[in-house]
Amino acid sequence: MHPSFTAKLSAEAYRTLTALVYQHSRIRLGPDKQSMLANRLRKRLHALGLTCYDDYCQVLHSDRGPDEIEQLVDLISTNHTRFFREPEHFTFLTDRVLPDLVTRLTAAGSPLRVWSAAASSGEEPYTLAIVLAEYFRTHPPVEWQIEASDISHRMLAHARMGIYPLDTWHELAPDLLRRYFQRGVGDRAGKCRIKAELRNRVRFHRLNLFEAEYPVPREQHVIFCRNVMIYFDPPSRAILVQKLTRHLAQGGFLVIGHSESLMGIRHDLESVRQSVFRKP
Ligand SMILES: C[S@@+](CC[C@H](N)C(=O)[O-])C[C@H]1O[C@@H](n2cnc3c(N)ncnc32)[C@H](O)[C@@H]1O
Repeated sequence: MHPSFTAKLSAEAYRTLTALVYQHSRIRLGPDKQSMLANRLRKRLHALGLTCYDDYCQVLHSDRGPDEIEQLVDLISTNHTRFFREPEHFTFLTDRVLPDLVTRLTAAGSPLRVWSAAASSGEEPYTLAIVLAEYFRTHPPVEWQIEASDISHRMLAHARMGIYPLDTWHELAPDLLRRYFQRGVGDRAGKCRIKAELRNRVRFHRLNLFEAEYPVPREQHVIFCRNVMIYFDPPSRAILVQKLTRHLAQGGFLVIGHSESLMGIRHDLESVRQSVFRKP
């Protein structure tokens, strides 16, 4: 950071920035996030050759605004994730969803469609791909495809590469590691990569969950939209659940994070168990 950078983020500039972030992504930044935002933005201001946050607000209101707001949302969003996070959801998929669903799809000759709607750096959609690949090792296969989307270009670039630090190996059972990952060599030593055959099962999209139209096929059988609703206010959650419901096939499942809930939100889904809902 440039040593002369001493600008302070004023309350007014903070209000402007949080309003723009909300307008664009529905992410609500409370008053406690002011110093986090100032810290994360400092490098960006420097990269743009700016010396104060007010000038940055002007950039956001200029012709460059639409591109810059994406950078801003990228900077402030929380991307924490990991393989097999909240593992009960994957067990539920294998034990309770797939047996019946796959029987019906086989009879109808239809493909299985699964969507990870806040995919971050890819661990969630690749976990889904591993779970499906494992299931079809011992069951008659149907065609299957995973869609994965996120608002963050930076996270999507990471996810598409499918390269993770080697400590990822410790989170996964050794037979899964052998089957679905390759160890990096040379300048990729210390890293592992999802094997191409599994990577090719996952189609990545840049998608803002509040866009009018989603570039993802409808009639999804399972949608994982986990650990993103916590950043949205109740009216935004209600809009999101309605939009996701429209993308579910009849009888399809919506899975949200364990710490999230649809309480107080009007929706047309039936509750199956904590954090799992079904379109009747
Ligand atoms: C904490 S991560 C969750 C990752 C994964 N679903 C999990 O549970 O491990 C939240 C992700 O939501 C994305 N996100 C935030 N607002 C979004 C929006 N309006 N549209 C699409 N993605 C959004 C962020 O970029 C981030 O990668």
